[in-house]
Amino acid sequence: MNKYYDIDIKTIIEPFQIRSVEPIKFTTPQQRRDALAEAGYNPFLLRAEHVLIDLLTDSGTGAMSSRQWAAMIASDESYAGSDSFYRFENAVKDITGFKHIIPTHQGRAAEHILFSSTVTEGMVIPSNTHFDTTRANIEVCKGEARDLVIAEGRQPQTIHPFKGNVDLDKLRETIESVGPENIPFVMATVTNNSGGGQPVSMANIKAVSELAHSYGLPFILDACRFAENSWFIKLREEGYADKTPIEIARELFSYADGCTMSAKKDGMANIGGFLALNDDTLAQQCRNLLILTEGFPTYGGLAGYDLEAIAVGLYEALDEDYLRYRIRSVAYLGEKISSAGIPIVQPTGGHALYIDARAMLPHIPDDQYPAWSLTNALYLLGGVRGVEIGSVMFGMQPDGTEKPAPMDLVRLAFPRRVYTQSHVDYLAEVLLALYERRDTLPGYRIVEQAPVLRHFTIRMAPVE
Ligand code: F0G
Repeated sequence: MNKYYDIDIKTIIEPFQIRSVEPIKFTTPQQRRDALAEAGYNPFLLRAEHVLIDLLTDSGTGAMSSRQWAAMIASDESYAGSDSFYRFENAVKDITGFKHIIPTHQGRAAEHILFSSTVTEGMVIPSNTHFDTTRANIEVCKGEARDLVIAEGRQPQTIHPFKGNVDLDKLRETIESVGPENIPFVMATVTNNSGGGQPVSMANIKAVSELAHSYGLPFILDACRFAENSWFIKLREEGYADKTPIEIARELFSYADGCTMSAKKDGMANIGGFLALNDDTLAQQCRNLLILTEGFPTYGGLAGYDLEAIAVGLYEALDEDYLRYRIRSVAYLGEKISSAGIPIVQPTGGHALYIDARAMLPHIPDDQYPAWSLTNALYLLGGVRGVEIGSVMFGMQPDGTEKPAPMDLVRLAFPRRVYTQSHVDYLAEVLLALYERRDTLPGYRIVEQAPVLRHFTIRMAPVE
């Protein structure tokens, strides 16, 4: 029974009302065919005005609250030592407990500054799964990003409460075989975005931290979706049901020596991020680099009002009513489409639903990119933009060869507080209609590509 009622009310409603609206534009099938062809069959290259429901990413696309806007109006834009910075720093310290808080313009800037200061040629950075920008920023420093998620984390249909967990045996083996001197730190991504938005358990975080520390290695969290991960711990891990999300988040951070963060996710902001560290020397080194590339350490490439939005947003992301609604809407869509036979990553993740395109489109071979095909079909049929997380994103190896990604997924990521129940029902209807027509979807081939992070700009064509 829900704590808000004397009787059993099951409907979970959006825990907000809407006082400012933004129209979305409908397009005809022909307009969508033209737009997609123009975009080189790459949804990243579509104009947003041609998209009806935009699930490309949950990054920086959320709706801000009236409290955030109010804080933004009251910002301090001083170049150095602004009040806005101190409010931001207090919020981040209050939630994470880390000593040095370094603002950056977004998550990848925090990654770049950390890796440039610590990673040298041949070093290995283990994690459950590195996200694409994290991997690329490590590879630019000539390091190796090694993914050590548990086996269940690579099996879309297997149900496991914490599919984002790091495989502890593989982590130990890696440290032993590479040598701790060649590992600058161990990482874990919460939630595990590239592996289906799956959470990591508190027990696993604690064990990874202990293992890393036993070799004298720091442990760094990629904390983009720390609030969603905390909610899953509350729901699924013994001993946490009665704890609040913020208490859980504080415990989560307490096992780490620092974090990289994109505030565009669970910071509820449209831009921003930070690097947080306990190590004084490393923090100083990173601040020096920050001044070179991002800006003075009390703004790090952000306006004072961005810092204000994050300071308020971090707490709003930890609100129980919000987290309940958010996680439940993704699960609801997952239940609707999986019960009709659409293969999805089970259980549904926090910020997104992932469709297993390899399983849904067995007639399209891996080297014709089934998830890319499904993403395009979803746009053509319903004006919905998702993103391929598969062999286009991850298939190109550092030496230029091609290898199919472990999973070929379509990610439907939900902007925070933007879409309502009827949008979700519409999505379900479009997906089911697409499932009926799945045999007609074509494979795709690459026409033109960049050497790194190719999915952003690649041009493709359907295979005749
Ligand atoms: N780490 C993870 C796990 C991420 O999901 C992202 C971004 C980043 C780091 C980088 O943060 O974009 O602020 O530089 N993910 C977005 C996404 C882009 O769509 O999943 P950023």
